[in-house]
Amino acid sequence: MSEAGAPLLELRGIGKDFGSVIALDGISTTVRAGQVTCVLGDNGAGKSTLIKVLSGVHRPTRGELLLDGQPVAFGAPREALDAGIATVYQDLAMIPLMAIWRNFFLGSEPTTGWGPFRRFDSATAKEVTRRELAAMGIDIRDPDQPVGTLSGGERQSVAIARAVHFGARVLILDEPTSALGVKQAGVVLRYIAQARDRGLGVVFITHNPHHAHPVGDRFLLLNRGRSMGDFAKGELSREELTGMMAGGDELTELAEELERPAGR
Ligand SMILES: Nc1ncnc2c1ncn2[C@@H]1O[C@H](COP(=O)(O)OP(=O)(O)O)[C@@H](O)[C@H]1O
Ligand SMILES: [Mg+2]
Repeated sequence: MSEAGAPLLELRGIGKDFGSVIALDGISTTVRAGQVTCVLGDNGAGKSTLIKVLSGVHRPTRGELLLDGQPVAFGAPREALDAGIATVYQDLAMIPLMAIWRNFFLGSEPTTGWGPFRRFDSATAKEVTRRELAAMGIDIRDPDQPVGTLSGGERQSVAIARAVHFGARVLILDEPTSALGVKQAGVVLRYIAQARDRGLGVVFITHNPHHAHPVGDRFLLLNRGRSMGDFAKGELSREELTGMMAGGDELTELAEELERPAGR
């Protein structure tokens, strides 16, 4: 939890326009090694756009992105990957009928500088898969079983273990828990904590304050492309976070409106 030294990743006044649409404006936060920065916001808040700026899909229209204290401008996702910024998208880019170990090595061709794929024979690949998953506390019986036989939480976990194995320093997760039930979400939250404990800087996107608060060190709140604040954990209770996220005032008003008038 050290605050010393340059953050792994720093955003300074990041903005992104799509034509006349201002998708993001004035967004600042930090991502430190061994910490989790949560990005919270309702649909359309700009969460995915922010990820795409960090992962090299979009160039920011305004602002600065710093990696290890140095300004960076990614021209393509590959450049962000090569810098150690790995993004796990919600759809996971996994092939359900393919074996777990094949999915584990998918997309890690030698040109990425991530995984010397060609040097892996399948026996080694299976062993690495089993070992890396075990290190994350995931026990798979057989690396040959299709990824489709895993639960949603386990699949997210395989994607996280894969990013850790291939040398990610920053791990970006786009709503990894939102399609999951309570128990499976808990599984994924544990792996987020594991990645954090292995020293990665994690960017965890969610709209659920109950998922964010237990695991987060920082909380960036987005609303319609603007920042509603960038808080350290100690600055914000779970109740305050929930209130800000739920549009607390709007919900209170709605509750009053929906209340039956007394005596009816
Ligand atoms: N490629 C794009 N072109 C035009 N508008 C976009 C594009 N991507 C996102 N937007 C707009 O930016 C805003 C934020 O969207 P998004 O980042 O997807 O929000 P979130 O992920 O928080 O739901 C929305 O108003 C959306 O319509
Ligand atoms: Mg989104």
